[in-house]
Amino acid sequence: MSDALAGETALVTGAGRGLGRACAEGLADAGASVIAVARSSDDLAEVAAHASGRIEAWTADVTDDAFVERVAALDSLSIIVNNAGGNRPGPFVDIDAESLDAILELNVRACFRVAQAAARTMIRSGTAGSIIHMSSQMGHVGSPGRTVYCMTKHAIEGLSKAMAVELAPQGIRVNTVAPTFVETPLTRPMLQNKEFRDFVYGMIPMGKLATEDDVVAAVLYLASPSAGMVTGHSLVIDGGWTAQ
Ligand SMILES: NC(=O)c1ccc[n+]([C@@H]2O[C@H](COP(=O)([O-])OP(=O)(O)OC[C@H]3O[C@@H](n4cnc5c(N)ncnc54)[C@H](OP(=O)(O)O)[C@@H]3O)[C@@H](O)[C@H]2O)c1
Repeated sequence: MSDALAGETALVTGAGRGLGRACAEGLADAGASVIAVARSSDDLAEVAAHASGRIEAWTADVTDDAFVERVAALDSLSIIVNNAGGNRPGPFVDIDAESLDAILELNVRACFRVAQAAARTMIRSGTAGSIIHMSSQMGHVGSPGRTVYCMTKHAIEGLSKAMAVELAPQGIRVNTVAPTFVETPLTRPMLQNKEFRDFVYGMIPMGKLATEDDVVAAVLYLASPSAGMVTGHSLVIDGGWTAQ
């Protein structure tokens, strides 16, 4: 616990489980008032019970217009972790239109619209802000069975750079966090496959997966005044995967 982010209001999407939940709890531990967003109210009830008492739960779907409007109507917002995202891996030639549309909708369109709403609130309230997009190492490289996912995360990298350039005069910084594999409810089923797990470990020179704490540390840095001159950057947390 610290008070490095005391007085800040943060919003984290996809905060019911996995990386989003860890980020919401980490930001609250650093003193921020946190709005945690997910569709499952049961998951959110656990998150809101966090010891700091600084987490407010919003049960919402980030693809809904009503949610986007609610973000744009906030009194103030200084940090957003645009984290909600998903993946439906599969061979390129087998991806159907429904899967393509669903992942584009969640990983790109909703991310864009939520970031836009957050920026509108920051500009209206005159708040210098930090917008953090949860990208992936797959926003920098390709990998088999991940064409749609890689496409969406490369899109987020481009969005972040363009937003960073455009919003800098308003004091809004825009960055991405780009982790390698972290064991979460999203990736656990994939990593239970021994062949896939061996492939992943073989690609990471550090010889280990990233942890939720590794990702939270990056988010806390990008949210903090220590990163006051950092914008348009992708903070890769990949044990060397993309350095090869
Ligand atoms: N885990 C990894 O190895 C890894 C690596 C690199 C990047 N990432 C990225 O990190 C982010 C989080 O991944 P994760 O592994 O933590 O995923 P996860 O365990 O599946 O958790 C995703 C969270 O997002 C919420 N969510 C999903 N769709 C939503 C929607 N439409 N509206 C609101 N909330 C929604 C889920 O709750 P509900 O279903 O209740 O809504 C859940 O709380 C994603 O953007 C992912 O691409 C993950």
